[in-house]
Amino acid sequence: MQLDREKVISALGGTNAVQGMDSEAKAEALEGYLSGQLDNSFFVRFGAPSKPLTVNDLEAQIDQRPIRRGIGTLFASGGTNPFGNRLADEPVNVSRLAPMPGNANLLDFFRLRFAPATHVLQSADTALAAGFPEEIVLACLLHDVAQTLMKADHGWWGAQLFEPYVSEQVTFAIRYHQALRFYPDPSVGYEYPNLYNLIFGTDYTPPPYIEAAYKYCRDHKWYMAARLVTVNDLYSFDPKHVVDAAKFMDIIGRHFKQPKEGLGNDNSGTAHMWRTIANPDAPL
Ligand SMILES: [Fe+2]
Ligand SMILES: [Fe+2]
Repeated sequence: MQLDREKVISALGGTNAVQGMDSEAKAEALEGYLSGQLDNSFFVRFGAPSKPLTVNDLEAQIDQRPIRRGIGTLFASGGTNPFGNRLADEPVNVSRLAPMPGNANLLDFFRLRFAPATHVLQSADTALAAGFPEEIVLACLLHDVAQTLMKADHGWWGAQLFEPYVSEQVTFAIRYHQALRFYPDPSVGYEYPNLYNLIFGTDYTPPPYIEAAYKYCRDHKWYMAARLVTVNDLYSFDPKHVVDAAKFMDIIGRHFKQPKEGLGNDNSGTAHMWRTIANPDAPL
């Protein structure tokens, strides 16, 4: 990363402020500045606005774009982008999807529909490295993959999608991570993500159902399961941290009830959701 000395000094509060810092404070301030720069370049890659917008500014953009921001990532070119804009280097048209095997398992979905799934793989790997229980690692691995189907309210969509196949605790963690993301918990070092000022608007306050979900979750015996998903929810990708979904094969084997007919063919209450992910090109 190229550093402009003048810019760095001014970002740290000006010459006087920097001169007044001891070397430890300088190092800390510089580290904060550098991680902010990294985050910014990451956000810009995803089409973030050059300055944070308000809720009203963002709402004014709704009829200025061809796709809705809540769209599932499989359904439009640009659908993976939280800002709802197709980027200049993304193709105009959607890609042709590889066919799914007849009795597809969870890893087949990771390989053929959720890929690259970098975010959830890195989240799960971070949880694994930190020594969290296997069900927490699994919740981290699964927490956002329903965004392939629907980004809006993805915690609820994800919990529903996985409910027939995982424990109630894992379902709970997936559902409530969506609400907890907006509420800091200093006891585990979780802060409101900077990225959300860009995605939701600087003056955003969560709607009443999210606040109610947060309050319910906060007093629940499984609060920490959902909270640990947010703790391991990474808001910037490390391109060098490459993780193969197969790394979690044993954890999946122990905690995910794979139907022998294949996901989508087992007549579970959510089989249709798996079929939609398998074949998002079905016209009706
Ligand atoms: Fe999420
Ligand atoms: Fe996430």
